[in-house]
Amino acid sequence: MNDINDINVTAKDIYSQAPLREPERQLYFIERCREFVLKIRPEGKPLMLVNTFGCQMNAHDSEKLKGMLFEMGYGEAKGESEADFIIYNTCCVRENAENKVYGNLGQLKHLKREKKRLKIALCGCMMQQETVIATIKEKYSYVDLVFGTHNLYKLPELLFAAFISDEPVYEIKTKHGEIVENLPSVRNFKYKASVNIMYGCDNFCSYCIVPYVRGRERSRKPEDILNEIKGLVKDGVKEVCLLGQNVNSYGKGLSERVSFGKLLRMVNDVEGLERIRFMTSHPKDLSDELIFAMRDCEKVCKHIHLPFQAGNDEILRKMNRHYTKEQYIALTERLKANVPGVAITTDIMVGFPGEYDVDDTVDIIKRVRFSGAFTFIYSKRVGTPAAKMDNMPEEGLVKENFNRVLEVLNPIIAEINAEKRGKTYKVLAEGISGHDKSLLTGRLEDNTLIHFKGNTDSIGNTVSVKVTDSKTFYLLGEQEEI
Ligand code: SAH
Ligand code: SF4
Ligand code: F3S
Repeated sequence: MNDINDINVTAKDIYSQAPLREPERQLYFIERCREFVLKIRPEGKPLMLVNTFGCQMNAHDSEKLKGMLFEMGYGEAKGESEADFIIYNTCCVRENAENKVYGNLGQLKHLKREKKRLKIALCGCMMQQETVIATIKEKYSYVDLVFGTHNLYKLPELLFAAFISDEPVYEIKTKHGEIVENLPSVRNFKYKASVNIMYGCDNFCSYCIVPYVRGRERSRKPEDILNEIKGLVKDGVKEVCLLGQNVNSYGKGLSERVSFGKLLRMVNDVEGLERIRFMTSHPKDLSDELIFAMRDCEKVCKHIHLPFQAGNDEILRKMNRHYTKEQYIALTERLKANVPGVAITTDIMVGFPGEYDVDDTVDIIKRVRFSGAFTFIYSKRVGTPAAKMDNMPEEGLVKENFNRVLEVLNPIIAEINAEKRGKTYKVLAEGISGHDKSLLTGRLEDNTLIHFKGNTDSIGNTVSVKVTDSKTFYLLGEQEEI
């Protein structure tokens, strides 16, 4: 067991010597944590596990958490039972995301009882809600450390506090502070990387909790983004995905206003980079400037994720989405006309208050012909305007409508994939396929997943792959000129 008394210098001294500026302060606490971490397991490196729930934003945040933990001297555990530190990076976008966290957390109680040195931390979106904090204090009091989205970069300082305290440490900030750059991070994938271009969201779609838990929209400076990308390319990265809740409104609030279209052109000029993706686009802010940047920039993948949520104008109005069904369809037509072969994917929600049928949703699906979609059943989020709306359609009807959406959607996706049979596409070979170890896996420029017979020496390169067969959600193929 580690103990503050093992450490020569007192906690008070440590805090008084800590730099006030970031990231220096956290780098300093990484070193202080390391002194504890190295004593956890006399027989070797202690192990940590980061369990991520939710979207790409959270997945990317977890890369930052891991990067900091590795710097402290932790190794990575394969499972919870062997870990000395477990952190859940949580999501609250739908109720089932929260239930998953509570379910897993309940299991940890036994582990904590068996292994006294185990530290458990919770962070991320779910922790920004007061009701959740109250529940954790009451029912999961064995959690050692809790923090939110606005102070994720403070993991080293907060973990240090947890090391020296017998009491659980909670730090939830209701407002975001500065954007802290240049902290350690790792990558989940070798050849592709996510890059935040902005944080937060100002759209307040009436069903959505994200603006409340991620705070106001703020953009990173273009030079910070470009420097990060150049560093990634030097490190072997071929593909970046620019992340934001609404990338199309990038640049608001920067001293020198740079639009998203302009940013794409700047990233396109980074030498050695091969592919640029971005997520997510809000239809209301999709400008011609962006469409033209997609058309002109050879590295920008001809794929756009453009959630429409629902087709009915009255529902869209109640969702606070700021577009109509016909405006959305017109937008996709402009995209198709200007960016030949563009693949459009989307998010669809079924069962919003007042939505008794999905005729308009089905109409959009048929007319746009999406090459992929995430489909969700509406989940009431306390604190959002939609939570107070009545006319909730009953569960049976929602399920029926949801199935109807899938029945129209999936055959279209399958058809679009089938059209690719016999053709050859550029694929970034990302690694060995998880499904079949004799195959490689990668994605087409339009984001379609493909498993293919290929040469393992090609991993990390863009290769030509002929599509031999197609399934609803992926393709099969063979690399040409092995
Ligand atoms: N910022 C992105 C996506 C954020 S959340 C965007 O605006 O497109 C990802 C998806 O979760 C949303 O597009 C929406 O379809 C879904 N979602 C958000 N809140 C939800 C809720 N309360 N119930 C069900 N699905 C929800
Ligand atoms: Fe949520 Fe809407 Fe913001 Fe997306 S744009 S995160 S759906 S509020
Ligand atoms: Fe993402 Fe879930 Fe938060 S979808 S932004 S992790 S609420």
